[in-house]
Amino acid sequence: MLTFVVNLGTTMKKSIISLIGYFGVFIIFLFFSGCTPHAEHVNVYSGRHYQADEELFRQFTAETGIRVNLIKADTDQLINRMELEGSSSPADVLITADAGRLVIAKEKGLLQPISDETLLQLVPSWLRDADNYWTGLTKRARVIVYNKDRVDPSELSTYEDLATPSWRDRILVRSSQNHYNQTLMASIVAALGADAAEAWAQGVVNNMARRPQGNDRDQVKASASGLGDASIVNTYYMGLLLNSTNAEERQVARQHGIFFPNQGDRGTHINISGIGIASSSQNKELAELLIGYLLSEPVQRQLSEQNYEYPVSTETEWPKLLQSWGRFKEDTTSLAHIHAQLQEAMFIFNRVGWE
Ligand SMILES: [Fe+2]
Repeated sequence: MLTFVVNLGTTMKKSIISLIGYFGVFIIFLFFSGCTPHAEHVNVYSGRHYQADEELFRQFTAETGIRVNLIKADTDQLINRMELEGSSSPADVLITADAGRLVIAKEKGLLQPISDETLLQLVPSWLRDADNYWTGLTKRARVIVYNKDRVDPSELSTYEDLATPSWRDRILVRSSQNHYNQTLMASIVAALGADAAEAWAQGVVNNMARRPQGNDRDQVKASASGLGDASIVNTYYMGLLLNSTNAEERQVARQHGIFFPNQGDRGTHINISGIGIASSSQNKELAELLIGYLLSEPVQRQLSEQNYEYPVSTETEWPKLLQSWGRFKEDTTSLAHIHAQLQEAMFIFNRVGWE
């Protein structure tokens, strides 16, 4: 009896051990199948918040089988998060809506160089980092949008001119907290030097129709309602307004024209949305596949058609709307050089009281 019990105990023990074994294998299987159904994935930290991007990532997964895990947040928050996560950060790539934040991410050691030179050849050198830590994905032109009822385009010429007394109480522009304005200011420091840039900023503050508030679209809407005459805006917002589902927004856009400043000298200021590979990434090859996909001709065209940004690839044909706004001279000063002036730009904003 005792032997039986002992035997029974031994059998039970074996069964329990076997069960643990089977369950263990099952649990491990579940873990892997649950976590990586496609085995391969890229974790994208993105400061771009457009539905068009999500559709592109879905297409990438359908074409390659590589899953995209998208984390969207404010770019500064994403950079802070990458810093906190350190070398264990799950981020594979960082996408931003401004070159300045890629420069900062590089300086903080959060990026690693892109190795595939063929990818980078698709992008003009002034739109990417000299050491290949980041590249532009799309171009944005920061232009003057004017109310057609109150401004004759012959009145318009340069960013510098917006600081002259003829524009007193007529300029609409958002806050200096905005990355697009910071990069524009840095480009003006790069072009004119700090003293002249400060005089310009002071002139623009004097000419503001109201205290800076709202986003780019809000400036054009304020102009439509008669609060001011000319706004400093990225062109794609005019594309978004013109194609809005809201009839009022379409009407606002139709009341306005786009003017590309500084065509007689350095050209219109260009910023990018761009991408870099996280220094913590163990998936560099997959990250480069994603970058190659986003820079490919059909995807460049799609980005341009859906979000009205300019393609960085010189081979991509512009969609009809962008063609209708006309070709223009771009300020091709290297974005990395422009961003060396970012700190000075911030000091200037503070000194002149550009909120
Ligand atoms: Fe934007």
